[in-house]
Amino acid sequence: MSTVFKQDYRSTYHFSPKEKWMNDPNGMVFFKGEYHLFYQYHPYGTTWGPMHWGHAVSKDLVSWEELPVALAPDENGTIFSGSAVVDWENTTGFFEDGPGLVAIFTHHLEVENQNPIQRQSLAYSKDNGRTWIKYEGNPVLKHDSFVDFRDPKVFWHEQNEEWVMIIASGQTVCLYRSPNLKDWEFSSEFGEGIGSHDGVWECPDLFLLNVDGEPSLQKWVMLVSIGADPAFTEGSRTQYFTGEFDGKTFVPDEASHAVRWIDHGRDNYAGVSWSDIPAEDGRRLFIGWMSNWMYANLTPTEDYRGAMTIARELALETRGGEIVLIQRPAHELEQARTPVLSLQDVSIGHVQEQLKDLKLVSYEIHMEWAPNQSIHFALRSGAGNETVVGIDCERNEVYVDRNQSGVSDFHEHFCGRHAAHLYTTEGNLNLRIYVDESSVEVFANDGEAVITDLIYPDASSKGISMEAKVSDIVISSLNIYELSSVKSEG
Ligand code: FRU
Repeated sequence: MSTVFKQDYRSTYHFSPKEKWMNDPNGMVFFKGEYHLFYQYHPYGTTWGPMHWGHAVSKDLVSWEELPVALAPDENGTIFSGSAVVDWENTTGFFEDGPGLVAIFTHHLEVENQNPIQRQSLAYSKDNGRTWIKYEGNPVLKHDSFVDFRDPKVFWHEQNEEWVMIIASGQTVCLYRSPNLKDWEFSSEFGEGIGSHDGVWECPDLFLLNVDGEPSLQKWVMLVSIGADPAFTEGSRTQYFTGEFDGKTFVPDEASHAVRWIDHGRDNYAGVSWSDIPAEDGRRLFIGWMSNWMYANLTPTEDYRGAMTIARELALETRGGEIVLIQRPAHELEQARTPVLSLQDVSIGHVQEQLKDLKLVSYEIHMEWAPNQSIHFALRSGAGNETVVGIDCERNEVYVDRNQSGVSDFHEHFCGRHAAHLYTTEGNLNLRIYVDESSVEVFANDGEAVITDLIYPDASSKGISMEAKVSDIVISSLNIYELSSVKSEG
C-alpha cells in the first residue's frame, strides 16, 4: 500500500493561521512593542464562512504568535473587516488609566429574503488586545441606502484633531469624521467616474506619505480594493490614488485619473497599513492577503487556507516624472536571512555554475546588473515545475510566469504570465525576489513594480537557474539568502 503524501504548502516566513480559513488583514495596530494582526477568520471551516476576527502578534513582523479569536459574531451579525487604533487621549471614555485599543469593524447581518445589513461597530481592549469588550451602543454608524457599506479604516487627523473614517460604499468610498469614535458625521464621497469599477469597492485606506523622502512635499495615498467579477480574469485587485486631503475631501492628482494598481500579480488583496507606528520609526507598513477571490476557496491546501504577504514599507517616489507608490520589504525580514551565495562583478556563466547545485524552498534573491539586459530566473524548478521571474527590456517590464509553476487545475484562470511596466530600464536593473513554499513576491527596480503570485510546486521542486538574452552581461551583485521564521525575543 502506498501512502499519499499531502503537501500543506505552509509558508515558512509568511503568516498563515494554524488551521482553518483566513482572508483580509484587519485591525493592524502597533501598541506597546507589538504589531497586532487581526484577520477575517472562519474558525470552523477551510472555506469562507461566518466571519470572526482571528488574532496574531509579532515583535519583528516575521514570526507571529497566534492568539485566541478576538471578535466573534453576536446579535448584530458576523464580524467583517475593519481597523484598530490606539485611543491615546481616551476620546471614547472607555479607558480609566492610560491608552487602550479600539477596533472599528463592520457588523454584517444576514436577513431572510432581504439584502444583508452592514453597519459599523466598536469593541475595545484594556489588556493589549488579549480580550475585547463590544461597545453597548453598537452599531455606531449605518447608512440608509448603501447595501455594501463596510471595512472602516480609521485614523487620527492631526491638523483637525479628530478621527477620520474611510469606508467602502459600493462603487465609491465615503469619508466621515468624529470626536470620539462613537458619533460620526458625513464629510464626502469619492470615486464616481474615477478609478477601476470592475468590482465592488472594498477595504479602503488613506494616509500621508513624504514624496522622495522629503517632509516638505507630502501627498495622501488612498488604497481601494476591488472585488472579483466573473467578467475579469484578473479577479480581485487593489488600486491606489494620490492626491490632497483636508480631513474632509479627497482631491485626486492628475495622475490618478489613470487606473494604477499596487501590485501586478494576482495575489495581494485587501491590504491596508498599520496604525500607530511610532513617529521615530515613521514607516507606513503594509500587509495584504495573499490570495484572490477568483479562486481563494479552491486553493490546494488542506487544514488551513490563506496566508498574508510579507510586511512591506510603502513610499512615494518620482519615477519617469510621475509620483508612484513604491513597496519595499520591511527591513525586519533581514533577520530571517542565512547567507547562501554572495557574488560581485561576475559573468552569467559563473552565476549559472554557482546556481547549478542549489536546492532551496524559502529564500530571497537580490540581484543587480547592467542596464538594458533581459534576464530571467527559473525558480522552484524540478518535477516538471518552474516559475519564471524576469525583466524583459524590450517590453520594459518585469514578469512572473506561473504557467508551469505546479498544481493549477483548481481554477481555469490560475495559470498565466503577469507583467508590470518599468519606468526605465536604462540604469542598473535590480530584482528582489522572495520565494516561499507557495508564493513568489517580486520587487523590481527598488520596489517601483511589484508582482505577488501564489504557486503550488511539488515539494521536491527546489532548483534555481538563470538565463540572459546576451551571454556577456556582468552581474554587479547577486546575493541569495535562505529565509526562516525568526523567533521573537522575550
Ligand atoms: C474583502 C471582503 C471585505 C469584507 C470581508 C468579508 O475581501 O469582501 O469587503 O469585509 O472580505 O470577509
